[in-house]
Amino acid sequence: MTFTTSDLTFKAYAYKNASTPIELTDETITLVQDPQNPSTYIPPPGKVLVKINYTSLNPVDVKLYHVATGPLFRQNKGFGRDFSGEVIAIGNETKSTLKVGDFVQGIYTKTFEKGTASQYLLVDPNEIEIATKPENLTLIEAASWPTVFGTAFLISKKIQYKNKKVLILGGGTSVGRYLVQIAKQEGAKEVAVTCSTRTQETLKELGADTVIDYTKHKNLVIPVLESVKATGKFDYILDTYGGNALFPEIDNILVRNGFYTTITGDYPGSDFSSLMWCVAASIYRTVSSKLGFSSFTYEFFMFKDFDNEIEQAKKYLSSGKIKIFIDSVYPFDQLDQAIEKLESGKTSGKVVVEVAKE
Ligand SMILES: NC(=O)c1ccc[n+]([C@@H]2O[C@H](COP(=O)([O-])OP(=O)(O)OC[C@H]3O[C@@H](n4cnc5c(N)ncnc54)[C@H](OP(=O)(O)O)[C@@H]3O)[C@@H](O)[C@H]2O)c1
Repeated sequence: MTFTTSDLTFKAYAYKNASTPIELTDETITLVQDPQNPSTYIPPPGKVLVKINYTSLNPVDVKLYHVATGPLFRQNKGFGRDFSGEVIAIGNETKSTLKVGDFVQGIYTKTFEKGTASQYLLVDPNEIEIATKPENLTLIEAASWPTVFGTAFLISKKIQYKNKKVLILGGGTSVGRYLVQIAKQEGAKEVAVTCSTRTQETLKELGADTVIDYTKHKNLVIPVLESVKATGKFDYILDTYGGNALFPEIDNILVRNGFYTTITGDYPGSDFSSLMWCVAASIYRTVSSKLGFSSFTYEFFMFKDFDNEIEQAKKYLSSGKIKIFIDSVYPFDQLDQAIEKLESGKTSGKVVVEVAKE
């Protein structure tokens, strides 16, 4: 596709900082003259222009909004990072196998720059990993997986699940649902999860062997120790919700040299002070673990990018053996309601926003 003017104007959600609303704004992408046809315009060299169909929301989108405080945050920042859409134009000298007309999905990983709750996105495919959409996924499903399945996939690459006992704290989160499925597929001997009453059956269907209902246990240590008494200590604890309840008894719960990975740290909240405490507590635990003061390895896993693994992740996800969970799809003009749902703590999978119909 080529354009007859150099300015492509469109709508995108943006905010300046945590004190300003996330609102629809007018954005512009500046195109360049096509040397082969000077009356038309194409994306700048090395860039791919994607017309976005769907964006899925992640708690990190809201967390980034909350941490954008202080005088440095004055420029507009886009909202959202997961997307699916169609490649509609490609700049000259772009090193990519993508073609115009390809349906794709990806994550826009540049923090505090553009966002994917936007009608268009201009990206360098060598900086932002994009993959063509698997044929067996809808565009809604395609937008739903990059961050959450990517996180579960990359964490799982560090783990030997075969014949091991695994505890997934927050089995009902989007990341947790994928971890349960991967752990079982990769041969875990036993997978225990924490989740609310309403998600128990779903997680059992995905393969969870033991379900601990966090709404019925004020202190998770008691049911976790019961599991240890029944079938032994855990080899891995994967925390997708956040908390520190198990640490006082960790040596009785996790095998020596076991592995504790969290993607949220000690505090599950998304407000500024929870995030600061979360970082401080996690730095302390990471340093203790690295200096050998802990009997186990502790890691705060942070998804930065796919590290060139997006094709492998896509292949695993689209094998037909992994179930994708979409909680709801909101129209583009209802981002505020979509965020409210995301933050309700009552989602069953991903909240997706429809930017343009398939
Ligand atoms: N570090 C990273 O790279 C990274 C990457 C992705 C996500 N994250 C973080 O990981 C967390 C999960 O993300 P997500 O997108 O998977 O979340 P999500 O899908 O929004 O998770 C929502 C679910 O959390 C569960 N939950 C609520 N209270 C809980 C509790 N007390 N204990 C256990 N589970 C509880 C609920 O499920 P039930 O009702 O079924 O229990 C709820 O439906 C977020 O904090 C996110 O920011 C970090």
